[in-house]
Amino acid sequence: MLNVSVLTDPGFCPHSLNKFASVMACGNGYMGIRAAHEEDYTQQTRGMYLAGLYHRAGRNETNELINLPDITGIEIELDGVNFTLLSGDILSWQRELDFANGELRRTVLWRAPDGKRYRLDSRRFVSLAQLPLVAMQLSITPLDAASQVVLKTGIDATQTNSGRQHLDEVSVRVFDQHYLQGVYETQDRATEVVISTSCRLSSDSSDSCFSAKNRRVMAHHSLTLPAGDTVTLEKLVWITHRKDKTLSQETWARNALADLKVCAAKGYASLLENSARAWENVWRDARVDVTSTDKQDQMALDYAVWHLTTMTPAHDERSSIAAKGLTGEGYKGHIFWDTEIFLLPFHLFTRPQIARNLLRYRWLNLAGAREKARRNGWPGALFPWESAASGQEETPEFAAINIRTGTRQKVASALAEHHIVADIAWAVVAYWQATRDDAFMRNEGLTLLMETATFWMGRAVEANGRLEIHDVIGPDEYTEHVNNNAYTNYLAWHNVSCARQFMTMFGRDDAAFLANSTRFLTRLWLPEANAEGVLPQDDTFMAKPAIDLSRYKAKAGKQTILLDYSRAEVNEMQILKQADVVMLNYLLPERFTPQQCAANLAFYEPRTIHDSSLSKAIHGIVTARCGDTEGAYVLWRDGVAIDLGDDPHSSDDGIHAAATGAIWSGVIQGFAGLQIVEGELHLAPKLPAHWRKLSFPLRWRNAQMRFSFEDDVLTVESSAPVTLSLWGKTLNVSGLQTFARKDFLTSIAGTATTEGRYDA
Ligand code: BGC
Repeated sequence: MLNVSVLTDPGFCPHSLNKFASVMACGNGYMGIRAAHEEDYTQQTRGMYLAGLYHRAGRNETNELINLPDITGIEIELDGVNFTLLSGDILSWQRELDFANGELRRTVLWRAPDGKRYRLDSRRFVSLAQLPLVAMQLSITPLDAASQVVLKTGIDATQTNSGRQHLDEVSVRVFDQHYLQGVYETQDRATEVVISTSCRLSSDSSDSCFSAKNRRVMAHHSLTLPAGDTVTLEKLVWITHRKDKTLSQETWARNALADLKVCAAKGYASLLENSARAWENVWRDARVDVTSTDKQDQMALDYAVWHLTTMTPAHDERSSIAAKGLTGEGYKGHIFWDTEIFLLPFHLFTRPQIARNLLRYRWLNLAGAREKARRNGWPGALFPWESAASGQEETPEFAAINIRTGTRQKVASALAEHHIVADIAWAVVAYWQATRDDAFMRNEGLTLLMETATFWMGRAVEANGRLEIHDVIGPDEYTEHVNNNAYTNYLAWHNVSCARQFMTMFGRDDAAFLANSTRFLTRLWLPEANAEGVLPQDDTFMAKPAIDLSRYKAKAGKQTILLDYSRAEVNEMQILKQADVVMLNYLLPERFTPQQCAANLAFYEPRTIHDSSLSKAIHGIVTARCGDTEGAYVLWRDGVAIDLGDDPHSSDDGIHAAATGAIWSGVIQGFAGLQIVEGELHLAPKLPAHWRKLSFPLRWRNAQMRFSFEDDVLTVESSAPVTLSLWGKTLNVSGLQTFARKDFLTSIAGTATTEGRYDA
């Protein structure tokens, strides 16, 4: 049995309620539920989301992930006193999320203001075995005297997305002694949601009744409990939604209730066991095991695998992964390049079928991307910067408002952050390289590559006797509307080159495309490195002044620079929000020598505030690849701290999904040195000094592999023969083999550069 970590909430604190509600959120890729406490607090945001369930609340709004009616809240009254940790005394506290089986637990010993002590135990999980199922238990034990216990819970549809209501209540019903059901419909009538719940008390001697008022359908239980006796409320919830209305609403709702009843007959413990078994498979396929003197390192990796699993709609290729997963309303649940670049690698190397689904999501949404390109006068597919269910552009038109003048700042990303097109193409190629899934490449893959390549060929303009790409925003969002952003140009080149390569490989004839692409690949301007190896971020970047950023870097992630300078001023200085050229070094390792990567790190790191959570981990990976493992570790830990650090508010509106993917990538692509170089798998493990061992499973083509690196010896176990490069030397591996790093040291020096293999 694997010793998977347990994440703890160190103590009740009104300031960090929302942080822990996000980082301890439970989910299964179908739904996510914030780890809000049963009792209410004014600062606490409850949240329950279904992957892919978006709705637009009104004029001037964009589609957002709907915050569904709440099912986690329970009003608890103990001898006439409302249970709240803001009064009385907390005599003991334990709260934890057990990653092994997915159970969130809290035990509190509480002294009420009237002096009576109570023990409250609550537990809940979202089932990984049965996607629509949530199960909860709350146990109460009066410790000093008999007490009157009143519990009220049900389905509370007063829930909103910060006041925006998305659902109409269609019906609320109560069945038998234990069941409640609410049927809801999005206000545009497109989707129906049915929430069915059973509430059952362990004691028969309670007074129970139901109420339905003001969008809340509730079960009320009241009983007198002798001192030392425990009563347990078991609440099971079954949540389904549909667009397809072939069944009548009544039949559909009745079926949901029947499904819930089957679960109710099994009970919490048995349902948890089923879900725990499903989690066991996840840990078997994906757990990264590290032996470190710092326990937080293993915690971070388990945390990452947990959220990477709970945020990913593995069941549904029509949805993808939101920037905050299913843990909060940040970014309105929209899907960015974060998915292909930061999240897809984890899936690709552990459960490649899921990576395929994520790419199919883009493929299924090609119509929206084509339409966006057309609207702007370009051919091919211009994927939206922010996407939801339909594949239309969802980026809000305006961002912050100046409340003195009433003017709003336009969001430029939808207009110019076009690198997402090439990012998707990059992911298509990585997917094929790691899986050799020809069927996918022949259909969806090639279509995506050709449509995206066609966009770039139309997007480039004739200037200065060559092709250039003008007026873009690269990954660094503090530098807007520039020409020849290096990241964009190189990735666009890669996009077109790969489209061409795979067309030839799969016999797709298109003479016009071939001619056009030859012209593009030979004439597109690829910014050149200076004598030190530094690549200019864009045409004007090098001419801009630099300022000392140390005070802003000390508050990375907070965007404090914008308190001192306007965005327009920031744009005119050498100030990066996040990795840009370094990001390029990371994604296309074969194009740059370690010396160039090191030069870019040295130049850009002091100019990068890391105000985006997508930044430090990438600097960390490139730092590790350049051989500075300890420096890379510092950056990796800074990346971990984005959600797991001390800042009580950094994750209030959800965890940072991309940063979570980067925790995994930082270790596998950083310390284990995994890269795909010219389609082949490369590893070059080198661990931070305080790590004794690193071990992880990896899928590569038809092989299930396991790598363990300890005392500079690498053990590789592979279910099928694999060709891979270890520390720069190509080998064939099968079965179980060991390799000592020292035997490769000479070859490391000899194979450090692989530049110049990208000929048009
Ligand atoms: C970053 C983008 C990212 C988005 C969503 C922004 O702050 O600059 O690169 O895609 O957040 O995570």
